[in-house]
Amino acid sequence: MNRSIPFVIIVSAIIILGSFTSSDENFTIGKDTPVWQVLEYMDEPSPNHSMEDTSEEQIRQGYELITYGKTKGSNGRKARQQSKHFKCISCHNTVKEEPDLKVSDPQARLVYAEENNLPFLQGTTFFGIVNRTSFYNGDYQKKYDGNPRIKKSYKDLREAIQLCAVECAQGRPFKKWELDAVLAYYWSLQFKMGDLGFSDEEFRKIRNAGDKSDSEGIRSLIKSKYLQAAPATFGITPKDAKDGFPGITGNPDNGKRVYDLSCMYCHEAKKYSMYELDDDKMTFQHLRRHIPKYDRYSIYQVSRYGAPSSAGKRAYMPQYPLEKLSDQQLEDLRAYVDKRAKGK
Ligand code: HEC
Ligand code: HEC
Repeated sequence: MNRSIPFVIIVSAIIILGSFTSSDENFTIGKDTPVWQVLEYMDEPSPNHSMEDTSEEQIRQGYELITYGKTKGSNGRKARQQSKHFKCISCHNTVKEEPDLKVSDPQARLVYAEENNLPFLQGTTFFGIVNRTSFYNGDYQKKYDGNPRIKKSYKDLREAIQLCAVECAQGRPFKKWELDAVLAYYWSLQFKMGDLGFSDEEFRKIRNAGDKSDSEGIRSLIKSKYLQAAPATFGITPKDAKDGFPGITGNPDNGKRVYDLSCMYCHEAKKYSMYELDDDKMTFQHLRRHIPKYDRYSIYQVSRYGAPSSAGKRAYMPQYPLEKLSDQQLEDLRAYVDKRAKGK
């Protein structure tokens, strides 16, 4: 045991000092420099999910676990399918999904999703997840207040991964080597300096900060460019489902985006659900009939509170927090359903 300690110290020293040493002429930052590397150089404590070393093989394994729910390990190790019901990418993107990393804006994200051919989902993207400092924020913490695992996940990415593997994906927890692989893959999705949209002047300032005389200022400048956590506020259904949310008029064109990029992503051809959605007039008529009621086919009900799994299955539909589907967007979806149900 004792023997491995110097090795660990050497490895992390190499990683931390990899691209610049403490003398300023070696302090070089480019667009590809990882944000964490700069923050650590500026004396930010490493996060508890930092890793001493990651290999290309681990990153590939992590990618496969997230994308397909299984992978092949080295030494012939094979991972059993993580979940029968979902893949992690059923609910999470793995690329940039927010045009401005400083805000969580569902409408900007919806337009961005359309432009970039991405689904519009309940979970937050894994892109830049290692740059966040807390998980399951806001109402997730409040609603599951009594759950010790969600409390632990708040400041612990490894815990958050295991919690979602079991509770969201309804599968098994990852083994230690798989968890390391997922985390290694997450580290490969970390923000680089070029992702943060610095002005030329700001970038120059950071590049010239090698003497660390203003490391605190540099750290806050960097952190001002992205959200430290994904906010989550749970909405409610309108008081009167027939009237919808008061004062909001739906835009069917925007509703089509929600339907195509979100609802269809899981419901087309029964991909993740037994309940099928398509482009047929009858489908929209079915949805429309249920809007005035608060039953299991109500778009208000399932969007705001989620949907339980049907008999014999364990796949359920996660609710959308307001940051993932606004009341306006929900009314837009309703307007689209209405329009299509009328055959327009
Ligand atoms: C059925 C949908 C669903 C599936 C499948 C799913 N997740 Fe999630 N996950 C969510 C939702 C919803 C949240 C809530 C917080 C957020 O992402 O904003 C979440 C949160 C997380 C978080 C914390 C993110 C944060 O910034 O708060 C991690 C980490 C995570 N999931 C990992 C995974 C992994 C790994 C898998 C696959 C094993 C997985 N999830 C599968 C829906 C899902
Ligand atoms: C992440 C995947 C996912 C997304 C996105 C999603 N759903 Fe679902 N939905 C499910 C699952 C899983 C169920 C569970 C019940 C099942 O399998 O039949 C479900 C259930 C439902 C039900 C109830 C069906 C029943 O038999 O009780 C309705 C209605 C529904 N969804 C509509 C929608 C609409 C409208 C949207 C878009 C706003 C949407 N869903 C987005 C996965 C999803």
